[in-house]
Amino acid sequence: MGLRLKFNVVLIVCYLLGLGVSVFPFYYISRQEVVEQLQSQINVLRAQALAIRKYTSEEIQPLLADFSTIQFLPQTVPSFSAQTAFRNFREHYPEFFYKEAALNPTNPADLAEPWEQELIEKLRAAPDLEKDVSFRQTDAGTYYTVTYPLTIRSESCLACHSTPDKAPASMVALYGPKGGFGWKLGETIGAQIFSVPMSVAEGRIWRNLALFVGTASAIFLLLLLLLNVLLNRYVISPVLRMAKAAEAVSMGDASVPEFEYPGADEIASLSRSFNRMRRSLDSAMKMLEK
Ligand code: HEC
Repeated sequence: MGLRLKFNVVLIVCYLLGLGVSVFPFYYISRQEVVEQLQSQINVLRAQALAIRKYTSEEIQPLLADFSTIQFLPQTVPSFSAQTAFRNFREHYPEFFYKEAALNPTNPADLAEPWEQELIEKLRAAPDLEKDVSFRQTDAGTYYTVTYPLTIRSESCLACHSTPDKAPASMVALYGPKGGFGWKLGETIGAQIFSVPMSVAEGRIWRNLALFVGTASAIFLLLLLLLNVLLNRYVISPVLRMAKAAEAVSMGDASVPEFEYPGADEIASLSRSFNRMRRSLDSAMKMLEK
């Protein structure tokens, strides 16, 4: 194996090993960053949902309380307004998902689906859990899903969610006496579920990774090319010339011109030593011939 091949093989193997080792942390950090971005989007969405809930209970509910005894207005219910506002929001960003899912909901549309039930049960089993984060696989791809518990913290909720006879008659007339009752103080009755698709984020991770590998490889190939040119110019080509001259001299051809490699590096010093040795050999031969 020639010097050039040896150098190239060793460097390429080292580069591939280095790349292999660094690609994993790079992917991991990239993914972490993307997930943090998704989480901050969800934080904004949640703050918005909570703000709408608060606006409804502090501004709308008191305003229409009297009217609600005659005809129940879902528009005065925080959960209704938060979810309706989110549906409008989805006209602009259909990929986002938000639901206030409950195990025993007032509005059947809020009934938790099996995967949502699992998340709610998880939160019910661990009352101290502030939120649950999961990556949900669906036919449409992976979804980053964050679930926050909906726990009954205020007595005021029980005015409508304890038993049908305590709830406003107009509400029972509209929703029926079956769902949304029997909730207890301190109980986690459902969850706010936010989902965003990972596809866009994953695309970004792969783009970053391709950019990283591409840039590193371009720099490496450039350095490899430069190294080959330098190796050829300063080592291989002068050594080959000296080897050729040594071969001719050893075969008795004294007509080969001396090859002096200019400079102060090791090859130049070798070429000078070689010429000196050759001159000594010439004069020794001449002395023998006499
Ligand atoms: C004035 C009666 C009333 C009060 C008070 C009330 N709710 Fe509701 N709640 C409803 C109605 C009606 C719905 C169904 C709204 C809809 O159609 O989406 C509902 C829906 C919900 C839902 C969505 C799941 C479901 O049952 O459909 C949650 C969660 C919820 N309420 C939690 C609370 C909490 C927590 C409080 C206390 C802070 C509270 N509610 C106070 C009437 C009330």
